Amino acid sequence: GTTENSAVRRPADWEADRLRDLASEFGTPLYVVDPDRVRQNCERLLGAFPDATVDYAVKANTARTVLETVEDAGLGAECASAGEVRRALDAGFAPEEVRYTAVNPPAADLDAVVEWWREGADLTVTVGARTTLDALAERGYDGRLCVRVNPEVGAGHHAKVTTGDAPQFGVPFDDATDAASAASEVGEFVGLHAHVGSGVSGDDLSAHEVLVGRMAMLADELDESPEFVSVGGGFGVPYRREDPPLDLDAVADATRAAFDCDARLVVEPGRYVVADAGILLTEVTAVKETAETTVVGVDAGMTTLLRPALYDAYHEVRSLSASIDDRVPTSCLVAGPVCETADVLGEERVLPEPKRGDLLSVGTTGAYGYEMASTYNSRPRPAVVTLDGETVARRETLADLTRLEGGEQS
Ligand code: LLP
Repeated sequence: GTTENSAVRRPADWEADRLRDLASEFGTPLYVVDPDRVRQNCERLLGAFPDATVDYAVKANTARTVLETVEDAGLGAECASAGEVRRALDAGFAPEEVRYTAVNPPAADLDAVVEWWREGADLTVTVGARTTLDALAERGYDGRLCVRVNPEVGAGHHAKVTTGDAPQFGVPFDDATDAASAASEVGEFVGLHAHVGSGVSGDDLSAHEVLVGRMAMLADELDESPEFVSVGGGFGVPYRREDPPLDLDAVADATRAAFDCDARLVVEPGRYVVADAGILLTEVTAVKETAETTVVGVDAGMTTLLRPALYDAYHEVRSLSASIDDRVPTSCLVAGPVCETADVLGEERVLPEPKRGDLLSVGTTGAYGYEMASTYNSRPRPAVVTLDGETVARRETLADLTRLEGGEQS
């Protein structure tokens, strides 16, 4: 159901009439986000981790409505850039609850964040390289510092999001103690951080446990005990009909069992907060029989939802058109409007015999959906609305596409 706080909201749980109304009012492609579901997901996380700080990894969905809902529910914010820090502060997160994870931070990001800190925003900067400490020291920063450690163990739904063992993230594990001392010389050393990867299922729990155990051990070994240890995010969600929901209590129990340490535990899920709170609506623009399959052309593509093209990610595609009961089930290739072979939202999807003008939903797209949209092929980015029909982001126009051309660099 849509009101009870169940562990997952499936694409079929969204009320079809409501989605059809939104598509006719706002056009397609259209992302719909349900802030009530965001709040429920936050509440379940806080319920499973009552003694921990739960940060929302803002990168999953930076919409103002989402950020305000998450802040109001009592989560902190994990930010990946100055832009995300700005959005988090603007949405009302207390600076003390903002942790900025600076991965190879561009100078402009550090300039901006240090300026906000100097203006009084007592946020935490997480560094993953000693040279980032130098860059902060040069700017006069002596505020709260967290050291990101490479835990040398990774997991994730795809090699491209398996983070823990990738050398670009965090100081090498063996250098962590020295990096923590170096951080205390620059500012106030307050925390340790590591992240295993994204889209971790119950089956990969062992990698998460190893990471938690290593981080707790490291925290205990330091001369100066940190205030907190963040063990990252990555909690997976079911994308396929047959996928079971993640057992959040099992994750929490395993985390607590491996976290033998006095520091405060921090977890920072992104996907788990928003994935099933979003759905994408798209219209069938062309249908064609070929020797291989029925090709269903739709107005959403890899510029609307990149995950299938980038990670071979699976998103459930459903037909929302009325009177589909008497149509023959047909195996389809669902393809977007972009001139790239990768522009396929789904292969071998069985849909009621598709017709031009049908409305389809692409499920579980609240996380890393609109965030990763682009204007490649000069495709304007889609509109985003709430389930109540409030505008979250306007649909981009053709005029928007060229608005950065000409003029002077600022
Ligand atoms: N913490 C850190 C330091 C991270 O880098 C990430 C995600 C998270 C937390 C949150 O991970 P989550 O709980 O959302 O799995 N675009 C990809 C996911 C990339 C995630 C990058 N970092 C996708 O669509 O699957």
